[in-house]
Amino acid sequence: MDRKIDELLFALMQNMTITMSGEKLARDLGVSHSTLIRWIEKLREAGVEIRGEPFTGFRLARLPDVMLPQLIRPRLRSQLLGRHLYHFYKVDSTNAFASRLLEHDRRVADGTIILAESQTAGRGRLGRSWHSEPETGLYFTVVLRPKVPPSLAPLFTLATAVAMHNAIERDTRVDVDIKWPNDLLAGGKKICGILAEIQAEVDMVKTLIIGVGVNVNHRQLPDDISDRATSLRIASGRIQSRIEIFAEFVEEFEGLYRQFEQSGPANIIEQWTRHSSFAQGRKIEINDGVRMVSGVTRGLNPLGALRVEQKGGQVEEIYTGDVVRWE
Ligand code: BTN
Repeated sequence: MDRKIDELLFALMQNMTITMSGEKLARDLGVSHSTLIRWIEKLREAGVEIRGEPFTGFRLARLPDVMLPQLIRPRLRSQLLGRHLYHFYKVDSTNAFASRLLEHDRRVADGTIILAESQTAGRGRLGRSWHSEPETGLYFTVVLRPKVPPSLAPLFTLATAVAMHNAIERDTRVDVDIKWPNDLLAGGKKICGILAEIQAEVDMVKTLIIGVGVNVNHRQLPDDISDRATSLRIASGRIQSRIEIFAEFVEEFEGLYRQFEQSGPANIIEQWTRHSSFAQGRKIEINDGVRMVSGVTRGLNPLGALRVEQKGGQVEEIYTGDVVRWE
């Protein structure tokens, strides 16, 4: 966790127009001058433009777009989600960090969120990787401890997709579709992926680790994925605020989580169905990990499985998989 470096950046941001002496910064942060210089270098590596050098002092060249907890906290209206925030400039994967955190501390609070500016080994579903360019995307993981049996776990990824759908549409006005089970698309191309990992006993979920990646301000996507993926900046034609989208998401998700605890999954299912063009009447082919299932979609069952009507009229309920073809 880069908490002290966040403090340094926050101090520089509060004094944007002033060159601050290295000695004073080090003293205020309670560290040695050499540690301060190391942190300045780390911020520069993360893309933060800092002018100056040890003898002249330091100043920010422009306001950086960094997911600083100091900037996020005042924006959060949630009671549970994001009350504990971890922020990294660079981490292998926020999901991997969450797993390590849980190994070392079994009491990690429900609703803890781990955010990163960039990931060196971002993970996607089905063993794929996730392109995690610095300062452009949102990369975060939510740790949840719902008191439910493992059969209900997929509902939380559907809820994540619904919450991010609502947050993006409200904040950016970009039209978003949900591709089953939880990819978000803009203009038919992927803008957000969700990777849920579960730790469970036979009859009870212990922890859900839900990783979310959103392509926000990428000018372009790498060649190997640019036919399937896009960003909100490309889709809307303007730069978007990662902090605003994140704060909206947190509020939306907490609302769905609370409603689920009070009255079950009906609202998640209803919203997912309303916001997804894949819910009803869509011809699709799904790889469920074992075989291919093709047919026409007939909504979700109460546990969030997709009903697919096959040739001959038989309806299959699919809990997990990858939609490989659709019309
Ligand atoms: C997918 O394949 O669609 C899922 C992508 C999930 C990416 C996010 S980025 C933050 C979190 N940490 C990871 O390593 N992966 C998820």
